[in-house]
Amino acid sequence: MVVRGRDRIRVMSRVCLHRWVPVVSGAGNAKRFSCPFHRWTYDLDGQLVAAPLMEQAEGFDIRACKLPEIRSEIVNGTIFVTFSSTTPAIGETLADLVEAMAPYRPSELILGFSVEFELDFNWKVVVETFMEAYHHIGAHAKTLEPLYPAALHWVDDTRRGWTAGHGYLKPGLPTPAGNRSGLPEFPGLTEDQRRRSLCLLVYPTNTMFISVDKITWTSVIPVAPDKTKWIRHILVLPEARDLPNFDKIVADLRILGLKVNQEDIAVNRLQQLGAASSFARAGRLSHLEKPVWQLADFIRDRIRA
Ligand code: FES
Ligand SMILES: [Fe+2]
Repeated sequence: MVVRGRDRIRVMSRVCLHRWVPVVSGAGNAKRFSCPFHRWTYDLDGQLVAAPLMEQAEGFDIRACKLPEIRSEIVNGTIFVTFSSTTPAIGETLADLVEAMAPYRPSELILGFSVEFELDFNWKVVVETFMEAYHHIGAHAKTLEPLYPAALHWVDDTRRGWTAGHGYLKPGLPTPAGNRSGLPEFPGLTEDQRRRSLCLLVYPTNTMFISVDKITWTSVIPVAPDKTKWIRHILVLPEARDLPNFDKIVADLRILGLKVNQEDIAVNRLQQLGAASSFARAGRLSHLEKPVWQLADFIRDRIRA
């Protein structure tokens, strides 16, 4: 569980120290966590503060009971969690990502809205499709391709821990065509930055899409070989909330987002189907699918290690 305590944010095990029932689920506000099974109660820092009727348990010391904390680190407003005690600090690994994202003020943004999907295909399919723009000409021929044509896309080499793909607004379209949402734009962007879209992958499962007015942050969570959960948060500038038509903007963005998502989901479902065929072989990739190769490379290196 992730808890904003009085002093700082902590990530802790939510498994009760008594008989393992998760002491909390969902999201919200709480002053304490009280286990529903026998009412052992924990403070926001995980300290056990109440254990009813335990007086006769000889030697039992309530102060010695604290929910284990799990290593976490906040980078660009994202809480990263790891069970490893040896992996380097992610803030160091992603130092140049923090720099690249600075114009978009990731730590200041607020939550516009969230969407969640349960997908019936492999997580790599999700990440690859998010990162490659080749399929704009197929799956998104009527939605994304007329704005950000596949042919204008390019992908950087892998940096330490992340990679980036760049889209460019179709020549001839006025710059404001890239921002039709009505949300406030990130201030201080150059004309060139305003014509770009940016796809980021923090290997292996954290993706971000940056446009002139929002960061679409997505966590891709593998559930099974053919099941993936997809949690997406649309992050906007704090002043967006003050817009009188903010609810309408969010409603429109939901509809548009869903349309594009459905286009991806439709082809990815078919892809998962075809991938199970004995005739499915690795086909030749286009230069626009460099992220597919990059992700495969990342995985191969880890398997080797
Ligand atoms: S399992 Fe939590 S109080 Fe017993
Ligand atoms: Fe797509």
